[in-house]
Amino acid sequence: MPANPTTAIILGTGLGKLAAEIHSASSIDYKDIPNFPVSTVEGHSGRLIFGKLGNKDIMAMEGRFHFYEGYSMKEVTFPIRVMHELGIRTLFVSNAAGGTNPDFEIGDLMIITDHINALPENPLRGKNFPTGPRFLDMHEAYNRELISQAKAIAAEKGIKVQEGVYLATQGPTYETPSEYKMFRIWGADAVGMSTVPEVIVANHCGMKCFGISVITDLGVEGKIVEVSHEEVQKAADAVQPLMADIMREMINRA
Ligand code: HPA
Repeated sequence: MPANPTTAIILGTGLGKLAAEIHSASSIDYKDIPNFPVSTVEGHSGRLIFGKLGNKDIMAMEGRFHFYEGYSMKEVTFPIRVMHELGIRTLFVSNAAGGTNPDFEIGDLMIITDHINALPENPLRGKNFPTGPRFLDMHEAYNRELISQAKAIAAEKGIKVQEGVYLATQGPTYETPSEYKMFRIWGADAVGMSTVPEVIVANHCGMKCFGISVITDLGVEGKIVEVSHEEVQKAADAVQPLMADIMREMINRA
């Protein structure tokens, strides 16, 4: 096991295959870690991987926890607390999301510039942990330097990227047309069911965060059709190599 990874990645939808590129790796199943939740969603396995991506020491979470699975916000974000204790300073995340920005297309990658927490709870509710202040500043929840770097990398590689605000709902329902419309009015470019809790806690732990959404369906008036988990997976799988290309390079430079 590498002594000190300072970079971690949550292999959300669209990045699962990156796990196979982590070499010199050892892993620990979530079920073997005290207090760790165990993931229940199809297509998400559950283990922490420690190894090298390129020549960078990395810790990866294969399988993440969602509020809709029934976990408390403390459970959803417990792995971030563990990462912090292990010395992680930078967090990379990915997710699948429905696009509410009318300029987006299915298969677009969206660099997350900011988020809106539309979950019913904040993971920092309750006794404050000494990792950060009671009232946490969130003016730069997603690190601007990492965002610029991602845009530069995408341009170098000729990969089209969008930028925007990610809004997290509790799920597990996708949105009604009226909900998509409301979230657009609120300022969301994309809607999903993850990432925000982890990023809040990572910020509370002083980590730099960077995230990308794969736009797997459209919540745009006139373009709304039935959404299924299978279609979301399929759309995410199709752009997985491009997402991996950007993340690999970001991690290499982190
Ligand atoms: N809404 C919420 N979560 C999602 C969506 C969506 O349209 N697509 C993928 N995850």
